[in-house]
Amino acid sequence: MCGIVGYVGEANAKDIIIDGLKKLEYRGYDSSGIALNVGGRLVVRKCKGRIANLENMIAEEELSATVGIGHTRWATHGAPSDVNAHPHTNGDGSIAVIHNGIIENFVELKEWLARDYGVQFRSETDTEVIAHLIGIYYNGDLLDAVYKAIDKMRGAYALGVICAQEPDKIVAVRKESPLVVGLGNNCNFIASDIPALLKHVRSLYLIENNEVVLLTKDQVKLFDANRKEIHRDVFHVTWDADAAEKEGYDHFMIKEIHEQPKGLYETLHRRIDEDGSVRLDGINMSKDEIEKFSKVYIVACGTAYHAGLVGKYIIEKLAKIPVEVDVASEFRYRDPFVDDKTLFIAISQSGETLDTLAALREAKRKGARVLSVVNVVGSSVARESDDVFYTWAGPEIAVASTKAYTTQLMCMYLIALYMGKERGTLGSDAYNQYLNDLKEIPDLIQKILDQEEAIYEIAKKLYKSQQVFFIGRGLDSSVAYEGSLKLKEISYTNSFAIAAGELKHGTIALIEQDTLVIALATQDFLFEKMLSNIQEVKARGAYVLGLAKENNTTIERQSDRVIYIPECRDELTPMLSVVPLQILAYYIAKLRGCDIDKPKNLAKSVTVE
Ligand code: F6R
Repeated sequence: MCGIVGYVGEANAKDIIIDGLKKLEYRGYDSSGIALNVGGRLVVRKCKGRIANLENMIAEEELSATVGIGHTRWATHGAPSDVNAHPHTNGDGSIAVIHNGIIENFVELKEWLARDYGVQFRSETDTEVIAHLIGIYYNGDLLDAVYKAIDKMRGAYALGVICAQEPDKIVAVRKESPLVVGLGNNCNFIASDIPALLKHVRSLYLIENNEVVLLTKDQVKLFDANRKEIHRDVFHVTWDADAAEKEGYDHFMIKEIHEQPKGLYETLHRRIDEDGSVRLDGINMSKDEIEKFSKVYIVACGTAYHAGLVGKYIIEKLAKIPVEVDVASEFRYRDPFVDDKTLFIAISQSGETLDTLAALREAKRKGARVLSVVNVVGSSVARESDDVFYTWAGPEIAVASTKAYTTQLMCMYLIALYMGKERGTLGSDAYNQYLNDLKEIPDLIQKILDQEEAIYEIAKKLYKSQQVFFIGRGLDSSVAYEGSLKLKEISYTNSFAIAAGELKHGTIALIEQDTLVIALATQDFLFEKMLSNIQEVKARGAYVLGLAKENNTTIERQSDRVIYIPECRDELTPMLSVVPLQILAYYIAKLRGCDIDKPKNLAKSVTVE
């Protein structure tokens, strides 16, 4: 989704903003632009395509400025093009605006501005309306004009605004879409997220909904919706700036795949006290409250939803409570049965996914207790939840989620264990055994990572497949969905996942000679049933890549190739079995020449509906 950056200080704004935009590239974008105040005149440069195009465009220009704003656009209103790229300006070019979000009433505002003020629009965007609105309200005070403009606007937005006549200022606004302010020495910044600023600052303000910020080089003032100045505690970033760099890997995705043992270790061990007991920091539910729940909803999108599918299985098994899993965009529009006996679990890497956030608010409105499993500290989902359980995966930059997924799974196991213990459905021996088994997981994942070369060889054999089916039973079917999503999103292979037992009810019609089927068979108690399903597709000519635990070698009789994962209890295999599928997807995409970290049409943080 769109990314915004702004700088006000004493240094060269152009370079700082371009650098910040590059850090936001991972969010997904199709065009970029910059507006600088050069000697009291706003200079706007923008173009379709990669930031490199923008850099080339301005490479020869002096553009000496100490104040500016920059933007990466992910098209919503109007196709990706030079003219639709941000920043947008008002009629005389004295106000420039960058925007992440959607203005829902922009058609109405556009008609009004054209009719009553004779405004002529240059682009098809909703954002241009904002620049004109601020322009008509401007009377020597940018902050006042921005307040008047947002009063007219409906929708979601993070805005950065500069004005030719007030060359020392940026005004920024947050409503729904994320916004952080970086606090430097003789300089201040705005950005959509923290990695864009880490090179310069570690002290930040996390801006809340409906807040307006006025930045000059030596001051940052925060105001609420009623223009009242407010105080905010400074947020100090503790994680390492290097965590957001590639560190010698070709892509963030493969780096993040390799970071999984460390991420999972952190997620688990941060919660284990010296005496070995587990402390679920951020979860403040009493035993009584946990016993009172009559159902659990897990709501999320994409990969996080797939983590929820595993969560359902494990919470039902260990805590003996019914769990429903829903994609957030469906949950929020279907009037679900939620009351004060409902535990609502939102899972989100970014903590900014608009559908997840909206579902969370809906559940809260209906009286549910809201627990979120989130990676980004201080994100909107985290802040709006009653309880927050952080995944501690570290920053995830690649659009395709990997380490966030496995750490989300670890969190679901810990939550299930905790609920099982508190509800008395899981005895202490079983609890301790699960915990010991969880502690083994980082090392077991490392063993799979050590097979990277062999998986690459398999990818070389398979990368030309036009169509792939992922099949599995029980927990394996949840992982099949995730494996399939990984493959399709980064390699653009037409891939499809289905519960293996469901194949014969229709989908098997698509299996023909040499169709690639990736068959997950890691569940001991379902192993023989899976072998039958593999035989069914083999009988129709499929080429089968099997995935099984290392002792279940009989799968070799039915499969063309096999990848093994180390022995581990059935319930915990998802954290292992997804790893070879991530590596396979990565190498298939690489062999197909795809832009792995920034797949087409996708965004890292989906802040629109
Ligand atoms: C796929 C992927 C997406 C996200 C989804 C939710 O690799 O990353 O499917 O999982 O957009 O995002 P978050 O977890 O940030 O809410």
